[in-house]
Amino acid sequence: LKVLEPEEASLLPRRLSCSAWRFDCYPERGVVVTKELCEARNCCFIPASSPASSATRPSRRNGIPWCFYPSDFPSYSLVSLNDTSLGQKGTLVRNVKTYYPADILTLEVEIRYETNTRLRVRITDPMNSRFEVPISVPTATKKAESPDYIVEHSKEPFGLRVKRRTTGRVLQILYNITEAPLNTTVAPLFYADQFIQFSTSLTSQFIYGLGEHRSTFLHDVHWNTLTMWARDVPPMEQTNLYGVHPFYLAMEEGGNAHGFFLLNSNAMDVALQPAPAVTWRTIGGILDFYIFLGPDPGSVIEQYAEVIGYPAMPIYWALGYHLCRWGYNTSDSTWEVVKSMRNYGMPQDVQWNDIDYMDRFMDFTFDSTKFATLPDLVKDLHAHDQRYVMILDPGISSTQPEGSYWPYDEGLKRGVFIKDNDGKTLIGKVWPGLTAYPDFSDDVTHEWWYDNLQRFHQKVPFDGLWIDMNEPSNFLDGSTNGCPSNSLENPPYTPVCATAQQKQSIHYNMHSLYGLMEAKASASALKRIVAKRPFVISRSTFPSQGMYSGHWLGDNRSQWKDLYTSIAGMLTFNLLGIPLVGADICGFGEEPQEEMCVRWTQLGAFYPFTRNHNAIGTKPQDPTAFSPLARTAMKQALLLRYSLFPVLYTLFHHAHVHGHTVARPLMFEFPADVRTYGIDKQFLWGRSLLVTPVLDPGVDYVDGYFPEGLWYDYYMGDSVRSKGEELRLHAPLDKINLHLREGSVIPTQAPNMTLWVSSSQPLHLVSALSDDGSASGDLFWDDGESIDTYETNQYAYIIFSVVQVLHSNAEATYITVETASFYGVKEKPSRVLVNSQDAQFTYRTNQVRSEVMGEGTHTQEIACC
Ligand code: NOJ
Repeated sequence: LKVLEPEEASLLPRRLSCSAWRFDCYPERGVVVTKELCEARNCCFIPASSPASSATRPSRRNGIPWCFYPSDFPSYSLVSLNDTSLGQKGTLVRNVKTYYPADILTLEVEIRYETNTRLRVRITDPMNSRFEVPISVPTATKKAESPDYIVEHSKEPFGLRVKRRTTGRVLQILYNITEAPLNTTVAPLFYADQFIQFSTSLTSQFIYGLGEHRSTFLHDVHWNTLTMWARDVPPMEQTNLYGVHPFYLAMEEGGNAHGFFLLNSNAMDVALQPAPAVTWRTIGGILDFYIFLGPDPGSVIEQYAEVIGYPAMPIYWALGYHLCRWGYNTSDSTWEVVKSMRNYGMPQDVQWNDIDYMDRFMDFTFDSTKFATLPDLVKDLHAHDQRYVMILDPGISSTQPEGSYWPYDEGLKRGVFIKDNDGKTLIGKVWPGLTAYPDFSDDVTHEWWYDNLQRFHQKVPFDGLWIDMNEPSNFLDGSTNGCPSNSLENPPYTPVCATAQQKQSIHYNMHSLYGLMEAKASASALKRIVAKRPFVISRSTFPSQGMYSGHWLGDNRSQWKDLYTSIAGMLTFNLLGIPLVGADICGFGEEPQEEMCVRWTQLGAFYPFTRNHNAIGTKPQDPTAFSPLARTAMKQALLLRYSLFPVLYTLFHHAHVHGHTVARPLMFEFPADVRTYGIDKQFLWGRSLLVTPVLDPGVDYVDGYFPEGLWYDYYMGDSVRSKGEELRLHAPLDKINLHLREGSVIPTQAPNMTLWVSSSQPLHLVSALSDDGSASGDLFWDDGESIDTYETNQYAYIIFSVVQVLHSNAEATYITVETASFYGVKEKPSRVLVNSQDAQFTYRTNQVRSEVMGEGTHTQEIACC
């Protein structure tokens, strides 16, 4: 596909008005943009203030484009706008062609006032249907009655302005609206067959989300282009990674927040610039975007979850400790590690195997020599209330003699594989050699996948699935035959191999949805096989993935920096509706120093999904591989996690039902405190448990920010009153700092080696009192594994509250509260009463600990002081 020569395009205006904001007029990669090239597009060419230093892109300096649109660059005009039952529908017309082929000169714009906090805008081609992302989103039937937003538009050129009703603040400005209060000029709208681009202003530089990338939690808006195209590449900066999430959360002045979601799966760039502004540039699909009005960050995420789907409630053991590595090499050596973990009393719920369990890396097989004892290992795990998870890659070996490999033979018969442009099975290459790729956009493939899993489950009764390499990854470029030469394979912008045919569309459109669809097939198959909540962890992800799987952050390295960046990754995925997330503890590639592995295990104990995994050829890094000192510290961290299981499980319930984050950025709880906006070295579990890990070598302290208020040391109950300050905390090697926010009650349990055991222990409540002596908390409890317990009313939900006279109550059906601690009790009480009876208690400054021993089928009361 070639870009039109200027003379082929209609005449563009000659007098340029070069505004202060530079929206890149020449985003094509690998082109040195000269003045001539730039002016041929009728754009402004002004080198950035000092000479270019970048050898790779001499036509920009530090990402600042030298070639940018003039403010009067032609765009679309709004020629009609009519009211509809949901809002408005109008027609957009472009009179002047652009230099991209196949401009769509007439467009339809639809503005839908879907709910009071959700606006949706769709810009489509009224003459031809274009690819739309096949995920189900809620359909609004009537216009929101009192929306929190006001939508204004301009006709010539077409522009939209969305304001927050309460503040009048402009959230989004599309295209040249000169009267915009921010006094901006933004860029023109492009809508060609393979090049769609629009820009909006941003309310602030505080932008989050936009996965999957390795970066700080807060994105840098200084000429930072984030590419979205699912890709198998170890996490590194400035690179598109495994998943695609075109959603951001933005802060506004004063602590309000809103969200923006572009529902599009084509390869795209999201270019952030310091104006602040953003440009969305995609090479297919349609423009279909949502704005969520919040107004606080947590509500934005709830509103986003309502559209993409709420995360699944995990099976209880998903929240235990998982151990994995590539290169156990035999089932016996895998078993040895499990035994050694047991010998040291190390908590472990799940043992995993990587591709080495397979016969020549083929899915649905196991190596009958090296992994001969695998079925026995799995039996033994089950006998110890532990679980087994194995890896599956999508690539199905295509070179086995006919009749010897059922998955391929049967797949061919049922036509489940992706076809090339000529309709033949497309062959790529992954671990087993040449492979065919199942087309998970076809229900027939889901059934075939299920049949394979079911047959294998009869041999090895696995409990969960790890779906890897599902970007999908290919060691070849395109296929064994390369790729055909046509406009899909060579778009004017990003070259991708994309003509392959899938049931729902060509791979060009479907590529970044592969992991989502495989997860959907895997979760539904597993649900049928085990008749419990399915456990699936996927490398590639897309919006709505949380309904089917969790995610791990890919092939990190055993470096302190990776330890740190894992927090941003974890927080970002919590924003993106996939709360079950964690990084490979102690790092995947390279070998960790012992101290780092201890610190990583401490932090990892607070990943919502906690798994230690490492690469082939590296030495063991499971907790038992280290010195007694390190081992003890790791064990302590894992036991701590297990003791907090009731808290974590309850947080997942809120994620599942309301779309809440589990691991939560501080700014979510303190949106009015700008100092929290960039914090990604600390985080919260829910609203009240503050985690401050050590992320540096050789220190026995850590600096952490404490938002204004009263905080209690989790272990000792000592209080800290902060005015919004950074404090230095003691952090010897065996300690991770944890603080409880005033006003919270958290339920804990005596930990054990598996969650099966520890989750049947009685509760110990920890209450962190506010100045007025009040606190509250909650607990969601069910059998931990049945499907839809909330939806079918098979659960207990308990609220704990401490009111001023220190009066706590708990109501439950089958839960025992054994002890309770109260942090912040200023004087020693003379008595502690439980249901009006005197109870045992101890007092140390500020803190009461009491025996409660009540089994509640009724309200239980503790009174003291
Ligand atoms: C790539 C995955 O990211 C990694 O975790 C795994 O160990 C290897 N594939 C081998 O299966």
